[in-house]
Parts: sequence; structure tokens; C-alpha cells
Amino acid sequence: MVNVKYDSVEKRYGKTIAVEDIDLTVEDGEFAILLGPSGCGKTTTLRCLAGLTEPTNGTITIGDYDVTDVHPKNRNAAMVFQNFALYPHMTVRENIGYPLKVAGVDSDERAERVQETAEMLEIPELLDRDIDNLSGGQQQRVALGRAIIRRPSVFLMDEPLANLDAKLKLSMRSRIKVLQRELGITTLYVTHDQEEAMSLGDKLVVMNDGHIQQIGTPDEVYHEPENRFVAGFIGSPSMNFIDVEIDDSRTIQPTNAADGFDYRLESNVADRYREHEEFTLGVRPQYFTAHTTPVDNAIRGRVKVTEPQGDDQIIDVLVGDEDGDHIELTVKAPSTVEAVRGEDIWLTIDDPLVHGFDSRTGSRLADGDVSRTKAVDSRAQSPSD
Ligand SMILES: Nc1ncnc2c1ncn2[C@@H]1O[C@H](COP(=O)(O)OP(=O)(O)OP(=O)(O)O)[C@@H](O)[C@H]1O
Ligand SMILES: [Mg+2]
Repeated sequence: MVNVKYDSVEKRYGKTIAVEDIDLTVEDGEFAILLGPSGCGKTTTLRCLAGLTEPTNGTITIGDYDVTDVHPKNRNAAMVFQNFALYPHMTVRENIGYPLKVAGVDSDERAERVQETAEMLEIPELLDRDIDNLSGGQQQRVALGRAIIRRPSVFLMDEPLANLDAKLKLSMRSRIKVLQRELGITTLYVTHDQEEAMSLGDKLVVMNDGHIQQIGTPDEVYHEPENRFVAGFIGSPSMNFIDVEIDDSRTIQPTNAADGFDYRLESNVADRYREHEEFTLGVRPQYFTAHTTPVDNAIRGRVKVTEPQGDDQIIDVLVGDEDGDHIELTVKAPSTVEAVRGEDIWLTIDDPLVHGFDSRTGSRLADGDVSRTKAVDSRAQSPSD
């Protein structure tokens, strides 16, 4: 087994910078996820490792070997694509065994390893079927089988579950997780689905616009986002961002002066931000508490839309004058809160859980250990459930 290292990797297509300054180490046996919006450079990063794309600058090592100029065939990295890329005119058995055939493994050993791989993926009964009449989930398992049969040093997957329906996605997700653990293969997995990333990865690599924004455990990127982009990208519904001013009495107000928002922060929380005067406050939807009658020190707004979600509901709240200065907040509340469209609603904030961001650069302002300690208690929503 081996680790993987990107050192200042860059890929340009003419003037387009697909990725830049990629510095990343994936440890031996680690499951790393490249996560980010469409076009941010995830596939490019993966293809550079597979050898399917040649970096413009930088080096890539697999184990002790600099593979930057090594032919894809000799990198011992197996890739699974979003569209599976199976051979349609072959049976399942032939598809799974193909990499061994190319490698010149004799037919007895091949048969044995195909059988073993099929059993691992619980598809031995499909071995003699044609690819064409398999379901999407079955095809995906064949694609996984074809990738793992060689026991590659590195396993690369580019949105392998994107074409599956929601239920199948969940079951394939846990299958991939178990398989990766059992085989202990160093893995890079691409997705733009943050929930999938949270549930699968040991390490998340959040990308935007060709750059890595943060590398951390799922817990770190959720609770200690380094900047506004990561904070907004991770978590659903997204974190609310409000540009505010803070005064000496700990009161925060939106810089656009939307009416109804005079909120006094707890003093230890206010102390974190006092020197900034203006900053961007970040509040996850579930860190508001919604009240249908007036309460002291609350943000007063009006219910715009409610979206039931079983035990919870998402409430869109308008604060201020819809035709003038206003802000909109997304609030997650228990379904027992009787939020009615058009009526007033009062919001309090679980202060220690908020984040502050530099309004210009987007970097997170230091918030000490307070938010972290409290955020991991049971009241906070776990990102991975
Ligand atoms: N062969 C190419 N020629 C020119 N530009 C390219 C090429 N491949 C990728 N790009 C550009 O590089 C950037 C990164 O693309 P990439 O495919 O890596 O993004 P991605 O994160 O995988 O996106 P998606 O989630 O949509 O798959 C994009 O701006 C894309 O248009
Ligand atoms: Mg892609």
C-alpha cells in the first residue's frame, strides 16, 4: 500500500486554469474525497493522478515513485468513471476479468479471481449475463469489480454514484465504504454531493475555482470551515451569511439597516468580533430557534415560505421591508413550531455556534474553542447522519 502526493500541481488549457497550486497528500489506505461545485477542477485533479491528463506544472508521486511522466498503464491506479465505461459486447465475467487478461494472467487464476471478486460484490449469479441487460446498480458493481480485481495501489472514482437513484445510491455508498476499508486501498473519490462526501471520507478536500479551499476531516470542514466558501458549501440547507456591524453594547445590526434586527450577542461571543466592527455573521439554519410569540432579544421577521420535512421544517424568514432594506434567513425548526406564511416570527440564535467571517476576504475570524466544544454536543446536527 502507498500514499499519494500532489506537489504544486497545475493544469492549464490555453488561458483556462483548470487547477492551480494543488498540494495534497493522501495517506496509505486513506479514503479522500474531492468535493466542490461543477467546474472546480475535481476531475482534472483525478485524471492527473491516473495519468489521463498531463499536468502543466508540478509533480505527482505514488509511494516513492514520481509518476508525473509515467504511462497510465504503469501507475497501478484503477479508475471508475461516472458512466461505468464497461465493454458492452462482453459478459460480466469478461468485463471483470479483462484487466487480468491484458496483464497476461493465466486463465485458471483469472477464473478464480473473477469468482472471488464477484462474491465480494455479491454478484456471482450475474457472471454470465451480458452487460446490456443489467440494472444501473449492477453495472456499477461490475465496474467496481473490474477496478479492484487488479488490487491496484490507488483507487480513483469519479462520481461513481451520480447515475443511480437515491435508494441505490445509499446502498452502493455503504458497499464502497466497506470495500475500501476491507481492501485498505488508498482512494481518491470525486463528488459534488456534500452529504456523500461527509459519509464516505476520512479526509475531505474542498475545492473551488481550481483551488483547494480546505483539507480536513468531515467534522473539521463542518465545524471549523476556514472560509465563507467552505462554510456555505458544506451543510444543507446552507449557512446564512449576514453582513453586520457590532457596537459597544454587543448589539449587531445588518449593515443594510434592515428593520427588526437588533440582536445582542452573548458577551463572550461578542468579544471575538468586537475589534472588527463590521463582519459577516454565519449562522446555520438549525442554530436559530423560532418563536411564534415575541421574546426578548430576538430578530423579528415574517414567514415567507415553509417547507415541511417530516420532523422538521425549513422556514424562509424575511427581516425588514421586502421592497426596501431587508435580509432573508433560512431557519430549520421542529415541525411543531406553528409558522404561518405572512405572520411575524421571532428568532433567537444559539450564539456560541455562530461563526464570523472577514467581509472582504471571506476568511473565518478566530472564534476560540467555544463553538467547537458546543457544536459537537448532541444538540448540533451531525453532518454525517
Ligand atoms: N479538455 C479540456 N479543455 C479545456 N478546458 C477544460 C478541459 N477539461 C476541463 N477543462 C476546464 O477545466 C475546468 C475544470 O474542469 P473539471 O472537469 O476538472 O471540473 P469538475 O470539478 O470535474 O466539474 P464537474 O463537477 O462538472 O464534473 C473547467 O473550467 C473546465 O471547463
Ligand atoms: Mg468532473
